[in-house]
Amino acid sequence: MFDANFIADPYPTYQQMLADGRIHWLDFGGGAWFIPHYADVMTLLRNPHLVTALSGAFSRHLPEADRHELDDFEDTVKLWISGMNGDEHLRLRRLLNKAFTPRIIEAIRPQVQQLTDELIDTFDAQGEVELMRQFAHQLPALVIAQLLDVPPEDRDRFVHWSDAIGEFFGSPQITIPQARGASQALVAMREYFRPIVAERRRQPGEDLISLMIAVEEQGEMVTEDQLLAQCSLFLFGGHETTRNLIGNGMKALLDNPDQLALLRQNPQLIQGAVEEIVRYDIPIQFIPRLVDADLEVAGQQIKQGQIMQIVLAAANRDGAEFPDPDRFDITRSYKRSATFGFGPHICLGLPLAMMELEIAISTLVQRLPNLRLAGAAERLPSVALRAFHVLPLAFDPVQSPADETQTTAA
Ligand code: HEM
Repeated sequence: MFDANFIADPYPTYQQMLADGRIHWLDFGGGAWFIPHYADVMTLLRNPHLVTALSGAFSRHLPEADRHELDDFEDTVKLWISGMNGDEHLRLRRLLNKAFTPRIIEAIRPQVQQLTDELIDTFDAQGEVELMRQFAHQLPALVIAQLLDVPPEDRDRFVHWSDAIGEFFGSPQITIPQARGASQALVAMREYFRPIVAERRRQPGEDLISLMIAVEEQGEMVTEDQLLAQCSLFLFGGHETTRNLIGNGMKALLDNPDQLALLRQNPQLIQGAVEEIVRYDIPIQFIPRLVDADLEVAGQQIKQGQIMQIVLAAANRDGAEFPDPDRFDITRSYKRSATFGFGPHICLGLPLAMMELEIAISTLVQRLPNLRLAGAAERLPSVALRAFHVLPLAFDPVQSPADETQTTAA
């Protein structure tokens, strides 16, 4: 497991894991229990003895002399909501839920559509596009910039920071340069947001940062450092994952031309298509939990302090829940996949991610005729995160509305 074949296609390994039992000890990141079955995944994600433990979880994989490389990283990450637990988590989550309601997200639907159309307008009229660089990288960065109301011109910096953190999180064996890169990115993000937060305090707007400040001023507490930390989490969490799911989803459609044709002919199937994309080949393959008490899971004694990896990607291919699980089928009947996690830490950005995916996938499919692969797709050499680095596509040249008018007039 975790070699080049696994990175190319982890699903045979997950099928074997599903067939071989409910719990497996693997030598990943110092050793961890891997949980592949859907029912166990959904149950364990609600178990209060399985806690998220971002603080200190990474530095112990570095030699003692190098651990200081992650000091800045730890300082911010320990304030991310995803690393909190129990009452502390619940309090902050309640506040963030208020700043992140479906109504707030729905309000930016027209802008997300406009950003999507503008990006597609920049594609080469001759019908070639490198989807990751020219689209998938850009859209989520622009959308999160819009939500936070920061300049869209800064998106290249967001992408750079987000990539440095993604490379670090996805690495099976953390290196010093990766640790340094992730630390520097988080410090840069925090310092980027500091003056913006100060400005929003003076002059609040309608954006997510102003909403978080407003919640704070209604008597509930979000400290300045917590607020800055959540800004970096939104930038990273909102960009990396959505980008990778746009790439993985488009590749799944291209690998299944009957499903692509079905969607193109029946745009109303987009909801089912997005649900299937969200199940089929997902950006966060597994998420870690620290076990904070001795437990028994699937007949196995688990010791306090051990790590469990909850394999969301395997749960989504569990044949007991999803019949014929390795088939990509946009007409499959709906069942919640494990992709966004479950329980107290379920993805805060879920409605935003679903809206972005719906708009991105449907607009690409409807606007680009005869969409096909135009060269070798390259995956990032990451294990826990699954993503394309390069995804070259071709499509038949499209006439712009102006061309069509001229043709008709002639
Ligand atoms: C397709 C895109 C996305 C996927 C697959 C995804 C996946 C996930 C998963 C699996 C978790 C749970 C992690 C855990 O339990 O340890 C999570 C949490 C989270 N996600 Fe997402 N996410 C996506 C998009 C977004 C977006 C657009 C945002 C928004 C800005 C976002 C913000 C967050 C936050 C803040 C948390 C932490 C919630 C908490 O701990 O209470 N995510 N996400």
